[in-house]
Amino acid sequence: MHFHKFEKIWLIFGTLSLVLFLTIVGVTAFGHGHTPAGGMDIIDPEKVHETAPFNNPGIHQIDENTYEVVVVSSAFAYTPNHIEVPVGKEIIFTLTSTDVVHSFTIDDTKVNMMAVPGRITHKSYTFTEPGNYLILCNEYCGAGHHFMQAEIEVIEQ
Ligand code: CUA
Repeated sequence: MHFHKFEKIWLIFGTLSLVLFLTIVGVTAFGHGHTPAGGMDIIDPEKVHETAPFNNPGIHQIDENTYEVVVVSSAFAYTPNHIEVPVGKEIIFTLTSTDVVHSFTIDDTKVNMMAVPGRITHKSYTFTEPGNYLILCNEYCGAGHHFMQAEIEVIEQ
């Protein structure tokens, strides 16, 4: 079979692009551990308020430099609604939803979590600047979606 010169060039180019693409996907998936969110903890969404740690929402100190902030999302509010955390310490957000999918997006940061009923999601973040940060829901969750917000106050210690 005879291939035209340009056809060969494009075949080689296409094959190399595919190999490059699969290599990048492979390295990020296995090397950097970017896997789909299959390893999340599960929870019965009907029993969120009785299930630890969500039976005690709020901030809990884990050790000298680490805090956990437990948040329950439900239409159309977060519990707690006002969170105070220290600047410069690792904050681990632990989140779930009692009803539909919400998000927990902290304005001006890289925190943009999903709150999924039946699932527990975690995200670690360290605030470097004190101040007030707005938390917003950016997953459309119903009539009150645009009212769904809370606030984090990052305080100097
Ligand atoms: Cu909760 Cu949108």
